[in-house]
Amino acid sequence: MAVPDDVSARAAELRDLIRYHDERYYGHDEPEISDAEYDALVAELRAVESEYPEAITPDSPTQRPGAASAPTPFSEVRHLQPMLSLDNAFSREDLVAWGERIGKLVPAPIAYVGEPKLDGLAVSLLYERGRLVRAATRGNGEVGEDVTANVRTLADAPDRLLGSKPPAVLEVRGEVFLSLGSFDDLNRRQADAEERLFANPRNAAAGSLRQLDPSITASRNLSLCCYQPGAVEGGPRLHTHRETLAWLAELGLPVNPHVEALADLDAVHEFCRRMESQRHDLGYEIDGAVVKVDDLAQREEMGRTSRSPRWAIAYKFLPEEKTTLLRSIMVSIGRTGRATPFAVLEPVFVGGSTVGLATLHNEDEVVRRDVRPGDTVIVRKAGDVIPEVVGPVLAKRRRGARRWKFPRVCPCELGQPLVRLEGEADHRCVSSDCPVQREQKIIYFAGRAGMDIEGLGEERVRQLVAAGLVQDAGDVYDLTYEQLVALERMGDVSSRNVLVAIEASKRRPLARVLVALGIRHVGPTAAVALARAFGHLDRIAAASTEELVEVDGVGTVIAQSLQAWFAVPTNRALVEKLRVAGVNLEGPVLEVPTAAQTLTGVTFVLTGALEGFTREQAEAEIVGRGGRVTSGVSKKTGYVVVGENPGSKLAKAEQLDVARLDEEGFRRLLAEGPPDPEGD
Ligand code: IVH
Repeated sequence: MAVPDDVSARAAELRDLIRYHDERYYGHDEPEISDAEYDALVAELRAVESEYPEAITPDSPTQRPGAASAPTPFSEVRHLQPMLSLDNAFSREDLVAWGERIGKLVPAPIAYVGEPKLDGLAVSLLYERGRLVRAATRGNGEVGEDVTANVRTLADAPDRLLGSKPPAVLEVRGEVFLSLGSFDDLNRRQADAEERLFANPRNAAAGSLRQLDPSITASRNLSLCCYQPGAVEGGPRLHTHRETLAWLAELGLPVNPHVEALADLDAVHEFCRRMESQRHDLGYEIDGAVVKVDDLAQREEMGRTSRSPRWAIAYKFLPEEKTTLLRSIMVSIGRTGRATPFAVLEPVFVGGSTVGLATLHNEDEVVRRDVRPGDTVIVRKAGDVIPEVVGPVLAKRRRGARRWKFPRVCPCELGQPLVRLEGEADHRCVSSDCPVQREQKIIYFAGRAGMDIEGLGEERVRQLVAAGLVQDAGDVYDLTYEQLVALERMGDVSSRNVLVAIEASKRRPLARVLVALGIRHVGPTAAVALARAFGHLDRIAAASTEELVEVDGVGTVIAQSLQAWFAVPTNRALVEKLRVAGVNLEGPVLEVPTAAQTLTGVTFVLTGALEGFTREQAEAEIVGRGGRVTSGVSKKTGYVVVGENPGSKLAKAEQLDVARLDEEGFRRLLAEGPPDPEGD
């Protein structure tokens, strides 16, 4: 059957979306959509593909066992047996349908085992003759990342198995997760250190396990729970899953205490419902229940599909809903002036955390949901990530509750009009002086999508703006140590780190700079295409509409947006400030290849003033090559770089016989790396 155009277009779109969200989830631990929304995309793609098998492409996400793999700093590990995923069920009917499917594959009866579905990150541990030799993330199911050093720091992951007769080989699968208590502790520490907070325990667990420094993993109090062996050589003859789990426990591996034997599908469904009602009493997050066939011989007969075993299914909980009071609806202004209405709620605990604010997207969405200030509303934390107001409980609406009207003016102190253009869903503040927009632009510029300046997060930028130290993104490059250190909650070390990060941002590639400017419609894809085509910001600024639209992926909307942006004098002034500061405005297109890591493991101390480098520049050069800068000279110091008017550190270096470099020597070291110890 030929595939209609609209069907194959939708399938292609779904494949792209799923790949994109895989990358957000697995590659960056930063999902943008809820698990439920993700599952809906996959379900839709599967439905399309089952109706039109010709629409299946070999690279479709439905055709592979795991998720796409993102670039990783960890080395690759091939699992002895692939780590499969599970098919999902969302209802009793889905469970019954699964039972019927597998009932046709083996003679009755089938007994089941139910387990909580831990919401963490799957890992595979390899024990050889009872010793932990390797641990890996799931990766794409076939090949994962080697996280052995990090897993070794987990109190739950024994280095040696118990008992006198450990199996020759045991590959065991489990979930690494953070208890709610440890998650709260971690976020409290992150907040104290003014670091980014983790959105949920799953992201925190994933971020903590994928650390380059195992001592960070060790400090996060991760837990492990084992639920399934992979490859096994040696060991007892096992007949059921329950025996298997008991054996894993005997070996000293942590297994979940809430595992239950279930005689039939009624018991299975009852177990799933019970888990759902207890989900917040466990002290850790679960996002469903896993149901497995108990009898291992039956499993063998049932086999697997390309991505999942037929003998197990994940029963996923629906997003949780709660009702609460909608106190008011307010509007926030984004960097492009977009005015987004949001709900201010009586805080309510839903989906594992407290929700006080939820976006309402735009005017039409408020109208569609017909939520009014004072209403009792239903709040859902879809996938436990993004809170959402579903709608009002009309039975509880107060008499005379008035519809909300979109404010006519910007909430900032200038109060300029908010306008909604013909054909657009959004209102915008079109004032180029709006202070909220200005602040948001700086936040965006320094943020992860932009110049990625560590230590210049949202709060810090607000602090700098409030202190009158920055008016636009260009001012960031004029900040001095004295200004920073005088701010509240900024010490010597953080001030210096921020300056180093600012310095390092000057070398970001053109495409990133272009994104950081926050020009409407110019996202990373368009930015890369523009950078590639023009090679310099000035040439993009000077390009005509015709020249711009010639670039693949740039249409009139982007072209006009660019021209409008560069026509604004304050924007041109910003570009000039960046130029003067020495920010890179030309190719290369993608990340600047980082300098060769010639100084890895080498520690520097800087003393005195250098002519050609500020302190931060010197530090950035060292750090960019893998080296470290410390403040005190010790025997472990590799080099002391000595400038004009050195301090007591020079004397200390002489006393300890640490190598000293003048500016010339420092330059040579940066260019050529340390002398080869074997050489002459
Ligand atoms: S068994 C071949 N059991 O859920 C079967 N998985 O959606 C392998 N998970 O990748 C999985 N709790 O990360 C199994 N009790 C449990 C689980 C569990 C959580 C995760 C696991 C897996 C994912 C599948």
